[in-house]
Amino acid sequence: MEKKLTKDYLVKDPWKVIEDGFHGEYNKITESICSIGNGKFGQRACLEEYYSGPTMPGNYVAGVYYPDKTLVGWWKNGYPEYYSKVLNAMDWSSIDFKINGVRFDLAKADILEWHREIDMQTGILYRTCLVRFNHVQFYIESERFCSIADDRLAVQSFAISNVSENVNIEITQGLNFDVQNEDSNYDEKFWEEKKVHFDGEIAYNSAWTKKTRFSVAAAMNTEYLIDGRAVSFEEQKIQSEKYIGFTSSFSLKQGSSLELFKIVSIISSLDYDHDHIEEDARMVVFGYLDHRFDELKDGHIAAWKKKWEHADIEIEGDVAAQQAIRFNIFHLNQTYTGEDSRLNIGPKGFTGEKYGGSTYWDTEAYCLPFYLGTSSSKVAKQLLLYRYHQLDKAYENAAQIGFTQGEALYPMVTMNGEECHNEWEITFEEIHRNGAIAYAIYDYVNYTGDSSYLEGPGLEVLIGISRFWASRIHYSEHSRQYMMHGVTGPNEYENNVNNNWYTNYIACWCLRYTLEVIESLRAKGFSFNSLYNKLNFDEQSESKRWKDIISNMYYPKDERLGIFLQQDNYLDKEQLLVSALDKKHLPLNQNWSWDRVLRSCFIKQADVLQGLYFFEDEFSVEEHEKNFLFYEPRTVHESSLSPCVHAILASKLGMEDKAYEMYLRTARLDLDDYNNDTEDGLHITSMAGTWMSVVKGFAGMRVKNDLLEFKPSLPKAWKSFHFLINFRDRLLRVRISDEGCYVELKKGEAIQIKINDSLYSLSALVHA
Ligand code: BGC
Repeated sequence: MEKKLTKDYLVKDPWKVIEDGFHGEYNKITESICSIGNGKFGQRACLEEYYSGPTMPGNYVAGVYYPDKTLVGWWKNGYPEYYSKVLNAMDWSSIDFKINGVRFDLAKADILEWHREIDMQTGILYRTCLVRFNHVQFYIESERFCSIADDRLAVQSFAISNVSENVNIEITQGLNFDVQNEDSNYDEKFWEEKKVHFDGEIAYNSAWTKKTRFSVAAAMNTEYLIDGRAVSFEEQKIQSEKYIGFTSSFSLKQGSSLELFKIVSIISSLDYDHDHIEEDARMVVFGYLDHRFDELKDGHIAAWKKKWEHADIEIEGDVAAQQAIRFNIFHLNQTYTGEDSRLNIGPKGFTGEKYGGSTYWDTEAYCLPFYLGTSSSKVAKQLLLYRYHQLDKAYENAAQIGFTQGEALYPMVTMNGEECHNEWEITFEEIHRNGAIAYAIYDYVNYTGDSSYLEGPGLEVLIGISRFWASRIHYSEHSRQYMMHGVTGPNEYENNVNNNWYTNYIACWCLRYTLEVIESLRAKGFSFNSLYNKLNFDEQSESKRWKDIISNMYYPKDERLGIFLQQDNYLDKEQLLVSALDKKHLPLNQNWSWDRVLRSCFIKQADVLQGLYFFEDEFSVEEHEKNFLFYEPRTVHESSLSPCVHAILASKLGMEDKAYEMYLRTARLDLDDYNNDTEDGLHITSMAGTWMSVVKGFAGMRVKNDLLEFKPSLPKAWKSFHFLINFRDRLLRVRISDEGCYVELKKGEAIQIKINDSLYSLSALVHA
């Protein structure tokens, strides 16, 4: 174990993130970092007991949202009426207690010892502390997890032990839907009571979301033990609006321990019928009544073990990097499991409210490769199907801004396919997102070799997206070229620009790819009739325009510098480098006025470079190099999505130190709170970028012409690294050290791979 430097309060450990000694000032950060989840629900690592210091309670249920009425200063036609928000849902883990009649408040206690940790190997949130409060000294020990062995289950153990004198303890705990979102637009509460009920010792509580009418139901069973034995005690049932629970009183002798063991089921109407959801929740708990805490914990740990067997990255010689990569992989696995095509990967997952809806272009551009590489291809396919199922809404979105001929514009942010972003420069202009959705289809087919997805859903989505580009691009008679005006590229520090190079490029790429897909399907004898009829698609006339656009599109560039221009006139801005800025200005978005940000040349995140990363084979190494050397020094990386793209490109260009700097920045973004916003929640989607920095960056992994290739490099700070990769029904273990690159086929049939351009047949172990 080794201590870290900045905001220096978390211990570096290969499998754990540990807070040794309580840091109340950073409590919200720790709550985000130690969040737990199982794909169906999750929570911030808030303390069980009352704490009057900084805290942001947060419990979230996947796919359950509330359309909060839009709040903007100046309404623009076309704005969505609602902003779909991830809901802060039922609190199941708070434990309020009194010591000799005085309510315990951690902020008012003397904290003599403190240890809080999230164990990423096992998915267990654990804490132990020694406190003195109201003249009594005692330990608190707590453990909790959202089971991934049964994703309907949350389990908690909480103990007060070694009390320094005989005391009376009164504990109140239950299930509480009387909660609020911090970011509610009108300070409204989003839950309505459905049913609050006791059935013997099992208590249950269910609620409706207002407007969307989702129901969520929970049931709980609690047991108390004193010194390991069941005891009789006084208990009062409490039932109030949206709350159910118990107050239990105990006399505890000096030196003794009181333990609470609680099982909670949490289910939603996404999977259960409103009419009997409470009974279903009760039955889940009922089924576990004879299970002990350790038994449930063992099942959960075993399920995590399986996940790690397919997804781990091991780094030798650099504990900060090791902790960070596991931290990223851990949270991605807690957020999305790929079992349900209605769910997606929100930028904050189950760790915070910010960013509202669950789906951004982040999913396609960043997350898809992670799930492709670490899970079965079914998981990534669910992500594609999610968009396919929302295609009708994408047509509506395009119609909203005037395109009514079957153009599809996917939303910037969404829960159910409807746009819920309401800043005109993003909602209407950050349309490059459409390109990423098409790119994900390409990525999936290229990685898995499964082209069957194109025969129907894939092609349907591609035609809708291509039609959008064909309508949105205009022909300039003056320049005799096609152009795209009034857009925002990935760099959100420039709005309403003309001819953003990346957007123009990806738009034309979509047209090209759709035409290629049509040709490849035609070659296979695919019958287009029913799809074309459904879409009213006139291939001949529509593809004529597409081809004309492809041949005559305008791409801004500067011949002298040999770079693509981020947009028209970018070079006319005052050209400064980030290195010339006094650090006190960073992050710019927290220190500069918005107009200053917009006028400056500083770039929030990869923009031209995002295009080079996606379409690397269409550009020379020299073009990569010139653009990287020009743009990176102007980039402030204030989007979490930025450093990983730079890490991958820097690795490709052999800029080892830059690649490593960018790797640490993406990997430790939340652990080190680089952007000063970890307290709002973690940057879940960019975590996939961290994984890519290792696998696509340092290991140089690509899939080209059906072959898996590696171009490995080893960061100086590392002795070796190895990772597991799922590729076309095989599991491969890749180890890179200064002795070379070893690839072992752990599961599946023999396969050919390339390492540094040489071809190898792999049946057991290869050393290059
Ligand atoms: C980035 C977007 C991203 C969003 C959600 C913003 O800060 O600029 O590219 O989609 O965050 O992660």
